[in-house]
Parts: sequence; structure tokens; C-alpha cells
Amino acid sequence: MNLILLGPPGAGKGTQAKILEQAHGFKQLSTGDMLRAAISAGSETGVKAKAIMDRGDLVSDDVILGIVAERMDKPDVSQGVVFDGFPRTPAQAESLDKMLKARGGKLDGVIEMKVDDEALVKRITGRFTCAKCGKGYHDDFAKPKKVGICDVCGSTEFTRRPDDNEKTVRDRLQVYNKQTAPLVEYYRGQGNLHVIDGMADIGQVTAAIETVLAQLKA
Ligand code: AP5
Repeated sequence: MNLILLGPPGAGKGTQAKILEQAHGFKQLSTGDMLRAAISAGSETGVKAKAIMDRGDLVSDDVILGIVAERMDKPDVSQGVVFDGFPRTPAQAESLDKMLKARGGKLDGVIEMKVDDEALVKRITGRFTCAKCGKGYHDDFAKPKKVGICDVCGSTEFTRRPDDNEKTVRDRLQVYNKQTAPLVEYYRGQGNLHVIDGMADIGQVTAAIETVLAQLKA
């Protein structure tokens, strides 16, 4: 099954994509994570993307479509993909439809996660990640069980994203509303859109997504 989690920065796309990966064997395809990996590797794509990401703008469609097409050709996506942070523009959405068709697949559903702007700012400015295994946490909503120690790998080192400050978050929200929100109507027109309340707690959001998956499978 191929799904898109659509929503603004901090809506919980990454959190839920990881849960879906564990529960259903889908692969999370996060263009944000792929770009951050390219930055860490010091590749040409990473060097070009860094300044754009730091100010909250979108990386060009050409670059994004190139890295997604390459990822979609790997054999481990055969159980399906959860697209997280992609597509983000009408051109990316149209290209994804073509990319899936060319590989004998299709889009099964788009889940729009709706969250108030002020809640998004709070979620993002409180987010941190284990520097070793990548497990995500939040200062208030998802703390490690023991302060300063990762629940998964025991590491005591954590990182915060450079674009997770209040100014850049507000810029990212504007970019979302202008460039990505029009995709809601695109997918509604295709009959693929399912809207859920992303304000609920993490477990309740997972349950709402599972209800959509059950409908899609029926
Ligand atoms: P990207 O990495 O995709 O960031 P984003 O879309 O801004 O989304 P986030 O990762 O910030 O949020 P999320 O929805 O995954 O929330 P999370 O689950 O972590 O993109 C970064 C940049 O890369 C872009 O600005 C752009 O420059 C570039 N880029 C990426 N893709 C691109 C593309 N396709 N085209 C062009 N450019 C692209 O949750 C956030 C926090 O809230 C966490 O701490 C979590 O624990 C907590 N939380 C989650 N759910 C809940 C809940 N239900 N209740 C309470 N807290 C919650």
C-alpha cells in the first residue's frame, strides 16, 4: 500500500510514519531525512540544500524528484511506502502519480493531519532526537523515560534541527500554506483524501490512521 501523510511542519508525519513502518512493514520515505543525510555526507545535493532548508524554503522539484525516483527503484519498497514530507508542490504530486504508475503501482490514500498553528510551533521548538539511533522526543509530549538517556539505545547525546527555531518554523508554515496546502484539493479531486485530527495525542492519531487503513483495505 502506498500512502501519503500530508500536513504542516510538526503535524506528526514522521512520528506516525515510523509507527506505520513498524506495524505494517511499509517503508518511510522522508525527503527531509534524505536531504539531512545528504548534508551530513557533504554531497553536492546536501551542500545546495542546506541553506534553503535552514531558512525554511523548499528545495527545487528537480532535486527532490531525482532523490525520490532513485529511492523508489530500491527493492525494499515492495511492501509499500509511507511518503512523509513529499510531495510538497503540485509538480511533485503529478510526478509521483507518474512514478508510481511507471512502476506498476498506485497511490492508495492520502491522510491529511490537521493541527493548529500554535500547537505546531510548540511541537517543533520542543523536538529533539537521539544523536545515535535517531529516536525522536519532545520536551513536553514525548520525554525519554530516564532524563537524558535514550530509551532505545541508551545514548546520552541528543540533537536539535537547525530549522526548528520559532522564526524558521513560522516561515515553514507560510511556505506550507502557500505551496503545499493546494495539494489537499488535488487529492480530494482524486477521491484519495482522508482527513484526521492531528491535535489528538500520538496514540489516538495512530488509531485514526489505522481506521483509514482498514477502510482502504476493505
Ligand atoms: P521535513 O524534514 O519534511 O520537515 P517538515 O515537513 O517541516 O516536518 P517535520 O519533520 O518538522 O514535522 P513532522 O510532521 O514530521 O512532525 P514530527 O512527527 O517530527 O523538511 C525539512 C525541510 O527539508 C523543508 O523545510 C524543506 O526545506 C526541505 N524539504 C523536505 N522535503 C521536501 C520536498 N518534498 N520538497 C522541497 N523541499 C523539501 O513531530 C514533531 C514533534 O511533535 C515531535 O517532537 C513529536 O514527538 C511531537 N508530536 C508528534 N505527534 C504529536 C502529537 N499527536 N501530540 C503531541 N506531540 C506530538
